[in-house]
Parts: sequence; structure tokens; C-alpha cells
Amino acid sequence: MSRVVVTGRIPQVALDSLRGEHDVSEWDSAEQIPRAELLRRVAGAEAIVSLLTERIDGEVLDAAGEQLQVVANVAVGYNNIDVVACRERGVTVTNTPDVLTEATADIAMGLILMVTRRLGEGERVIRRREPWQWGMSYMLGTGLQGKTLGIIGLGGIGAATARRARAFGMRVVYSSRNAGAPELVQELQAPRMELDELLGEADVVSLHCPYTDATHHLIGAEQLDRMKDSGYLINTARGPIIDEAALATALTSGTIAGAGLDVFEREPAVHEGLVDLDNVVLLPHLGSATLETRAAMASLAADNALAVLRGQRPRTPVA
Ligand code: DGY
Repeated sequence: MSRVVVTGRIPQVALDSLRGEHDVSEWDSAEQIPRAELLRRVAGAEAIVSLLTERIDGEVLDAAGEQLQVVANVAVGYNNIDVVACRERGVTVTNTPDVLTEATADIAMGLILMVTRRLGEGERVIRRREPWQWGMSYMLGTGLQGKTLGIIGLGGIGAATARRARAFGMRVVYSSRNAGAPELVQELQAPRMELDELLGEADVVSLHCPYTDATHHLIGAEQLDRMKDSGYLINTARGPIIDEAALATALTSGTIAGAGLDVFEREPAVHEGLVDLDNVVLLPHLGSATLETRAAMASLAADNALAVLRGQRPRTPVA
């Protein structure tokens, strides 16, 4: 029996499967585990099942010790894990791709609809009990039909968002480090573009790339300037891909028309310059937040950890 440390609450189904084979210590609180407690708990663990809120770096790996075999992240994004430090110590890292694709694409499409049709703004009027009256020019938004969606990062979630957008009558273009699979590009009828060209062409730009050193502030003042002044920016990937201060300035000055954000540069903090703006929709990182998806993510992470501890290849390793 090995020792497995789970760094936050996860669905029971996944905890049960871990407990069926190992001694599990779960941080059972809605609060984030304090760093000192994380360092204390991981000592002697063979497996860490981590949430995206925990930074798993050399310090944590050293605190765990040489017997650590696997860090199983309960997220598709694994920028919270120092993969190089894990590799150096022979620790396997896994993530949870695919199982959250549809849920996250739903939120991306939801943000597109909310910001272009001013849904949050309209709802706030009613909740503030402000007077309102139907009128031909009252609270007009922008239609999506015939408009162009620019997907940055044509992985699973980018493709699923593109499919939804096509059902709403949008044309799709994309920019990605690697060319999309030919069947996918054919299905979506999506030409590949350089980032700058896409920014100038798209009516809605949606971010779906991983967060790495290369994508830090991929969208800053210069890129926002390249976008149409009628354009919208959507982010369901990771906050620091956008320079949030530059975005607040662009939204205030009319450089772009609006934005929909599910992720933030310094979560859970949100740039103060965004909070009072009506042309930005702000969601508290809900991309994968459905009961079904969270159960599937946690179960996949548990399966990955169990596989490594049994000496087998995990289903979804990243390193
Ligand atoms: C992920 O899995 O990376 C998502 O951000 C979780 O919601």
C-alpha cells in the first residue's frame, strides 16, 4: 500500500478508487491547502493528486522525497507543475485531457454569446431594479451569423468551440503552433493564419493554447491594437496569456469592443480595471465546472496515479 496525497477536495468516486488500493490523505476543505501544510503532507508520498491551484515545484518534490512516483494533475492544463523538475527526479506527470473538452467549449461559446449580446449587462440592469423599456435601439448587441471566429490553439477545446461557432453561422480561422489535423481542418473549413493576420481578420478571437513561457502575454497592447475595434476577445485557457492591464485599457479606450474571461492573470484576483466595465463578462474559472466533468477529471487522475503505482503506463502522461 502506498501513500497518496490529494491536495484538495475531489469527487468521492475518485477518492474511493484511490482508497481501494492505497492509504489516502485528502485536504478536505474548500479553502486552498496552505503551502506549509502541503509541504508537510507530501513527505513520504508515492503519489500526489494535485489541483491546478497548487504549485508543484522542486520544493514540493524535495519535501515529498525520492519515493515519489507520480504527480497526477486534475486538469488538462499543467502549468502549475514544474515538469522539468519532475522529469529530473524520474516522477511521472499526468493530466486530464479530453474529458473536459465539451464543458469548456460550452463556456467559451457561452462567453461569446454573453459578451456579443450583452447578456450580463442586461441582467445587471434588471437586478439593480433600474427602469428599462423595449426599444428599437435599446441595448443592441452584435450578431454572430457570417462573422469570423479566430481560434488560437486548435486542440480539442479549440476545435469543439469552433464546431459550436459554425452551428451559429460563423466562419472559422485558426492560428496554432502546429497545423491542425487535415480531417479537422477540412471539417471546420478553417484556414490557418499567422497570429497577426488572424487578429486583424477575426470578429471574435478565442484563446485555447496552453500557458507556457512562449504564450505569456501572447495578447498584449500591440496585439489588442491589431484587433478590429468591433472585435471581442475570449479566454477560457489561462489568465496570464493575456496582459490583463493592457486589456483593461483596450476595453476602456474602445480599442476592442468587449471581452469574455473565465480565467485571470492572478486568480482568484481580477484586475480592478475590469470589474466595473460593462463590456467584459467575468466568470470564476467555470470551464470544466459540471458535476459530470469534474467526476470524469478526478477519475482519470485517480486512474493515472493508480496505474503508475501498479507499475503500468498511465492513460494520459505528459512527461
Ligand atoms: C483545466 O483543466 O486546465 C481547466 O482549466 C480546469 O477548469
